[in-house]
Amino acid sequence: MEAKIDEVAAGIFRLSVHVPDIAPPAGFTFNHFLLRGDEPLLFHTGLRRMFPLLRDAVARLIPPEDLRWIAFGHYEADECGAMNEWMAVALQAQVAHGQTGCMVSLNDMADRPPRILEDGARIELGRGLAVRYIDTPHIPHGWDAGVLHEEGSGTLLCGDLFTQLGNGAALTTGDIVGPAIAAEDLFSFSSLNPGMGATIRGLARLAPRRLALMHGPTFEGDAASALGALADDYDRRIGQALSAARGAS
Ligand SMILES: [Fe+2]
Ligand SMILES: [Fe+2]
Repeated sequence: MEAKIDEVAAGIFRLSVHVPDIAPPAGFTFNHFLLRGDEPLLFHTGLRRMFPLLRDAVARLIPPEDLRWIAFGHYEADECGAMNEWMAVALQAQVAHGQTGCMVSLNDMADRPPRILEDGARIELGRGLAVRYIDTPHIPHGWDAGVLHEEGSGTLLCGDLFTQLGNGAALTTGDIVGPAIAAEDLFSFSSLNPGMGATIRGLARLAPRRLALMHGPTFEGDAASALGALADDYDRRIGQALSAARGAS
């Protein structure tokens, strides 16, 4: 396995690892984003067992010991499995995550106390980069779920939202909604809940110019429409699931 590195926006690097054994033949991609500010931030630590590969990839961009912030969408192995390995090499590094995640997992699981981010909290990274944290509980899964919006470039680091299979180009202007619907059909990875459509539409109000997918390409284009279409599909799916459950009872 190798990590492919692409700069998807000024100062934002996508470190992408394709695992062919997951959902073959297309395989599945894990993306990690390094925001190279004066205070570098890594969004997704990588799986714990993937740490040597990620550390070597990050070392092509910054000295790993300079990492300052470790952030992720929710508490799960591919999002944060290697957080303690990162904190062991980067002694200034601190996990930054929402209140729920800190309370239910990170205050115990992280080797150093995390920085607790309120909904809407902002971290200035320097070199024109700043991220705002937005709570998205249970969306697409995890009580502690949230996203980061890098405000200078308008890049929404949207974690597992729009998950798709395959190993395409780092950047796309093509459709990301159809492949996300197909992956949801295959994996059922989302925690269907009544707040889903409204929360995803709420992200469109940030007016992002780019959607950086954890499992898929980085999309450039009409991000608000893509978020709206995804929200519509989840609304449809939730309605269908409720009807099916009522029919079965
Ligand atoms: Fe996840
Ligand atoms: Fe993920």
